[in-house]
Amino acid sequence: MGGGVTTVMIRRLTFEDLETVVAMEAANRPAPWTETVFRDELAAENRIYLAADQDGVVGWGGLMLVGDEAHVTNLLVDPEWRRRGIGLELMLALIEAAVSEGARHLTLEVRSTNEEARRLYARLGLAPVGVRRGYYGDDDALILWVHDIDVDVYRERLEGLR
Ligand SMILES: CC(C)(COP(=O)(O)OP(=O)(O)OC[C@H]1O[C@@H](n2cnc3c(N)ncnc32)[C@H](O)[C@@H]1OP(=O)(O)O)[C@@H](O)C(=O)NCCC(=O)NCCS
Repeated sequence: MGGGVTTVMIRRLTFEDLETVVAMEAANRPAPWTETVFRDELAAENRIYLAADQDGVVGWGGLMLVGDEAHVTNLLVDPEWRRRGIGLELMLALIEAAVSEGARHLTLEVRSTNEEARRLYARLGLAPVGVRRGYYGDDDALILWVHDIDVDVYRERLEGLR
């Protein structure tokens, strides 16, 4: 599959997508979420799960809203579809949806060795504020935050990424 800019449709992730999602998750993560976890997440209050759709799901991302904070819970793009801006599109759509639900701050944990994800998150202004040593067993978790995601200056920053 060649490179190049891809236009994907970003839409809500649904229960019908889970067969694809669970298989993709299992194939691409050291500690994959099970179908039960995805089902519980999709059914839970205060969650937003979005799919990137290109004749089927090629990626997804999700977050949990807690007060005025949005916590990213999961983000994955099919390896065949990476480096085309889909991860960025998913994060931008998640942030927009979170802000429209009243979120003002965004946080997540990422493996310290996950360079691809860290570069994507840095582009979005997410900065490390702490480390959870051994959080993933074989790796540390970096705790990233970006504050004031609801203000115009941040919105303008995101528009500059597209
Ligand atoms: C992290 C992850 C979601 C990024 O997804 P992605 O779709 O590849 O992300 P993007 O395409 O938006 O950005 C990735 C890179 O592609 C580049 N890119 C974007 N569009 C491009 C294009 N049209 N042509 C070439 N490169 C492009 C970006 O500049 C970026 O490069 P950089 O990392 O060197 O700065 C993906 O690598 C993944 O699923 N990893 C495994 C799961 C994971 O780590 N999840 C996050 C932690 S929970």
